[in-house]
Amino acid sequence: MDGNGRWAAARGLPRLEGHRRGAERIFDIVDHCIDSGIGTLTIFAFSAENWKRPLDEVNGLFKLGEWILRANLTRLSRRQVRLKVIGDLSAMPDFVRLPLEEAIRSSASHQAFTLVVALNYGARQEVIQAVQQIAQEVAAGTLAPNAVDWAALESRLQTAGTPDPDLIIRTSGECRLSNFLLLQSAYAEIVFAPVHWPEFTKEQFQLALDEFAKRERRYGQTPEQLQAKPTA
Ligand code: IPE
Ligand code: MG
Repeated sequence: MDGNGRWAAARGLPRLEGHRRGAERIFDIVDHCIDSGIGTLTIFAFSAENWKRPLDEVNGLFKLGEWILRANLTRLSRRQVRLKVIGDLSAMPDFVRLPLEEAIRSSASHQAFTLVVALNYGARQEVIQAVQQIAQEVAAGTLAPNAVDWAALESRLQTAGTPDPDLIIRTSGECRLSNFLLLQSAYAEIVFAPVHWPEFTKEQFQLALDEFAKRERRYGQTPEQLQAKPTA
């Protein structure tokens, strides 16, 4: 969700106003996902690197996050949305962490859709944590070194149990992944939307979905092989 700051600056507004307008977009996009038959959406709300921002902006983002969660709990529960978080929640202030943990608990049985919030998340940090866990298990003798395969690593990532993303959308025209789901994105299609996140409407989202639908996913195969025997 990139471009809140630039959207605000272009209108002479404070950056936090851009974040507020951006946060409001999330729930329309969730609705459109559910209506389009998409099962999971992960939003990159706060990266492990975003702590480098001015303290006022960081605090403002957390307050906004808490407020936007509270204001939309009923809407999420009405649509049977299950909430998950990836990232290091333990470093979050209690006023954000506690309501989030409560929302995760109370939505655990919801089936219609999974909303994953990446909060204080970084893909490299996630991989390091998984590798440390594997090293400990190998050292303890509970995991054989040659049993360390992709399934073993994947199941120790914070996204364990969540399917790899088929499509990654980054708004604001920036063309990079910025430490987001680096391993899980191995075969993801990536769309760089030219609008700032506060302008990312359902229509803009549908344009990205239309672009995705045109892509041919080959997973290393030739186009001829795919025509003979379609894969996943
Ligand atoms: C939102 O946009 C990203 C968040 C951390 C919430 P930005 O804050 O990155 O906006 P720009 O890139 O400065 O325009
Ligand atoms: Mg940015």
